[in-house]
Formats: sequence, structure tokens, C-alpha cells
Amino acid sequence: MRPSLLALALAAVASAAAAPNSNSTATAAPSSTTAPNSTASSPAPNPTAGADSADETRTLEQLHAAALAEGGRVTLWHGGDLTNGGDDLKAAFEARFPGVVLNVTIDLSKYHDGRVDSALADAGELPDSVILQTLHDYPRWDSERALLRYRPAGFSAIDNAYKDPWGAWYGVYVYSWSFVSSTAKTNATLAAWDDFLAPELRDKLVLTYPNDDDAVLYLFDLLLRAYGEEWLDRLLAQNPRWVRGTGTPALMVANASYPYAATFTSDVGWAAPPGLRVAKPSVGPFVSWAQTAAILQDAPHPEAAKLLHNYILSPEYQNGTGWQVRRDLPLPDGFPWAPLEDMHNTNPVDFARWMQDRGRVERLRFWFENRLGTAQGVSPLVDPWS
Ligand SMILES: *[C@@H]1O[C@H](CO)[C@@H](O)[C@H](O)[C@H]1NC(C)=O
Ligand SMILES: *[C@@H]1O[C@H](CO)[C@@H](O)[C@H](O)[C@H]1NC(C)=O
Ligand SMILES: *[C@@H]1O[C@H](CO)[C@@H](O)[C@H](O)[C@H]1NC(C)=O
Ligand SMILES: *[C@@H]1O[C@H](CO)[C@@H](O)[C@H](O)[C@H]1NC(C)=O
Ligand SMILES: *[C@@H]1O[C@H](CO)[C@@H](O)[C@H](O)[C@H]1NC(C)=O
Ligand SMILES: *[C@@H]1O[C@H](CO)[C@@H](O)[C@H](O)[C@H]1NC(C)=O
Repeated sequence: MRPSLLALALAAVASAAAAPNSNSTATAAPSSTTAPNSTASSPAPNPTAGADSADETRTLEQLHAAALAEGGRVTLWHGGDLTNGGDDLKAAFEARFPGVVLNVTIDLSKYHDGRVDSALADAGELPDSVILQTLHDYPRWDSERALLRYRPAGFSAIDNAYKDPWGAWYGVYVYSWSFVSSTAKTNATLAAWDDFLAPELRDKLVLTYPNDDDAVLYLFDLLLRAYGEEWLDRLLAQNPRWVRGTGTPALMVANASYPYAATFTSDVGWAAPPGLRVAKPSVGPFVSWAQTAAILQDAPHPEAAKLLHNYILSPEYQNGTGWQVRRDLPLPDGFPWAPLEDMHNTNPVDFARWMQDRGRVERLRFWFENRLGTAQGVSPLVDPWS
């Protein structure tokens, strides 16, 4: 049930109790191209009353009926960098709830969020639901009263670190970059970060530009802090291929037409797809975060959006996702890693905090741009091979 290799490459969100802070929100979010109101000053408090403090009590079947009565349609803007990244969720949802169409649009979260701001600013067409990587947007949107405060079934079981207490936003699944290598192209052991510096991997690495994806930038920030610029110099000496999108590296590693044998900026899930190995570093940091979802306050199809969110958080969907945002469900059979809370080399909450400091993110982005050059190529949604 967990989305496929491509869907897993979706880079989306997490969420921590990221309190809006006047210093960090005073800087315009670089990814938002519009809505001067929303970024020019710190958000006002949102005293809207009336949030229901109880989790949804309706069953999926009752929600299904409500969604059908509403028109049987839900629009989702999901962060990701391959066009087919939403196909698995759409197929599973529509098979489970006949008559309800899931219109999912995949694009980079940093582009989706600007469109949400534009739609909010000029009363344009809003999606019903967003599931994005740009975690810093959620507290701001809530402050602007743009999000529906709603607690789906299972909300109480979501780790407190991943959710707004009123249900304005919450993590729905955990994403995490892995060590991914091709069984046909290399036998190199990949267990620690220095393993990528092995001579046999020279000209065989493919990586996402950190200056094009904040979750990859966060990884490189962790690596710089752990190993210093000297490690980066040695990585660059390996002559990696830099690409846009986090789905592209795993696609190229898996594809016999390319020489690239390994990457560490893709998420292919926990069950290795055919021809690939997947691992987490046994030593040194890795990135994990909870993809965060929200329903828009002015969602055109609120009942169908509630159905979608209840479904994604249901045991039957969560079952396949691997590390889960809920604390009351078991890991799937055959899961290769320890529970997330027992992994001492990742902090799935830290990414949300890190994303809030847009000034620091921007400085890091330009630091890497200076080392690597600007990201080249069209959007991976247009051509993943460019
Ligand atoms: C903003 O940050 C500066 C420097 O860290 C600090 O001195 C100041 O108190 C902060 N202001 C607010 C309003 O948080
Ligand atoms: C900011 O929002 C207010 C209230 O919605 C509106 O009247 C004003 O024109 C907006 N200002 C800008 C610069 O968009
Ligand atoms: C699907 O969603 C997109 C983006 O929100 C929208 O432009 C498009 O019109 C929708 N398609 C249908 C068939 O509703
Ligand atoms: C990996 O090891 C196996 C067994 O020794 C060997 O047959 C295979 O050719 C090796 N693959 C590569 C890419 O070196
Ligand atoms: C492998 O890469 C080539 C060249 O970009 C592409 O045309 C082909 O469709 C890819 N194969 C698969 C299975 O994705
Ligand atoms: C989870 O998946 C396993 C095997 O894939 C299945 O046996 C089990 O019934 C599923 N549990 C739920 C709650 O769907």
C-alpha cells in the first residue's frame, strides 16, 4: 500500500510544534512568489474558536457516503518531483471508495505553496487538501485562518511532535532519504558516509542539487556539521552527477542506460525495488520527517477531503507506509529497521524546526550554489532525465 518507488520519492512535509516567531517569519519565504501580505509581517494570532477537540467518530463508510453526497470529488496538491508520484494513492483511494475521484497534482512543494498563497490572496481556486514538504508554511497558513481545524480518526495517536494540537495540520507518513545502490552496477558496501568516497564509485554517483530541494539541503547541512567541508570536497572529487528532483537519482541508478550506481538523496521505501539495495547509515546522520497534510478552510469539497485524510491515517493505509506517524500501530512485517524513536542518528522533528529559519536556509542554499552552480535542467516533472 505504501506508494511505489516513484511515489516515495515525493518530497513532502513534516511538522513540529513550530511556533511562529517574529524573527524568522519576518523574512519572506523564498519559495513563495506571491502574497506579500502573508510574508511581510509576522502572522497575527488566530483566535478562531470552535475547533472540535475530538477525533472524527464517523467510519470510513459514513465519510464515503458524505463525500458522494457532496459530489464525489477531492483535489489534492501533493509535493513531489515525478509526475506519476500520486498514482498509487489515487488508485488505492478510488478502488476503496467507488464513485469518489481523487484529482492529485504533483509538483515541487516550493511551487505548490506559492500557488496556494496566490489562490488565498486573490480568491483563486484552492485545492481541498495539501501534503507538502514546505513545513514552514503550515503555522503561517493557520495564522492566516487558511486551514480547517479538524482531527481525523487516529489523530490522537499521532506523535505530538508531528501535529498542531487543533488539527490544522499533521504528519501523515514518514519520508526518509536512503542509501540506494544498483545490484547490477556495484558491490560496494554502503553503510557509512565515507563509503561514498570509495574510488570505485568515482563518476558513479548521482545526487539531487541541495540548492534545489530543502530536504536535501538539510541533509547536506547535517553532513557539513558532522564531517566538515573537507568531506564535501572529497565527495565533489568523486565527480557526482547533479540532477533536479529526488526521484531522478533512484531512476537513474535503476536504469541500465546510465552509469550511476548509487545515490543518497532518494526515498525508495523500505522494501528494496527490483535491482536496488536500500540501507540507512549505521553511522552518521540521516534525514527523516513526517509529511504534513492540511485541509484548506475554504476547501471546495471538505467532506471528501476528510475522507481522504481519514483514509491515509487509517490502519489499513498506514500499514504499508513503514515508519508511521501514529504511535499505536505496528511496523509492517519484514520491516528492516528499528522503530524510528530508537534510531539515534535521525531526528524526524528537527527538519520542521530547520525549515522555519528561512534566512539560514537561504544562506545555505547560496553557499551550495556557489560550490555546485545553479541547478540545471527543466523541472523533473517535465523531464526526469534532463
Ligand atoms: C531577534 O533576534 C535577535 C538576535 O538573535 C534577538 O536579539 C532579538 O531579541 C530577537 N527578536 C525577537 C522579537 O525575537
Ligand atoms: C493585505 O490584506 C488586507 C486585508 O485582506 C488588504 O486590505 C490589503 O490590501 C492587503 N495588502 C497587500 C499589500 O496585499
Ligand atoms: C484537477 O486539479 C487541477 C489542479 O487543481 C485543476 O486545474 C484541474 O481542473 C482539476 N481537474 C479536474 C478534472 O477537476
Ligand atoms: C558482485 O559480486 C558478484 C559475486 O562475486 C559478481 O558475480 C558480480 O559480478 C559483482 N558485481 C559487480 C557489479 O561487480
Ligand atoms: C532508461 O533511460 C532511458 C534514457 O533516458 C529512457 O529512455 C528509458 O525510458 C529509461 N528506462 C526506464 C525503464 O525508465
Ligand atoms: C497489514 O498488512 C498485512 C500484510 O501485508 C496484512 O496481513 C494485515 O492484515 C494488514 N493490517 C491491516 C490493519 O490492514
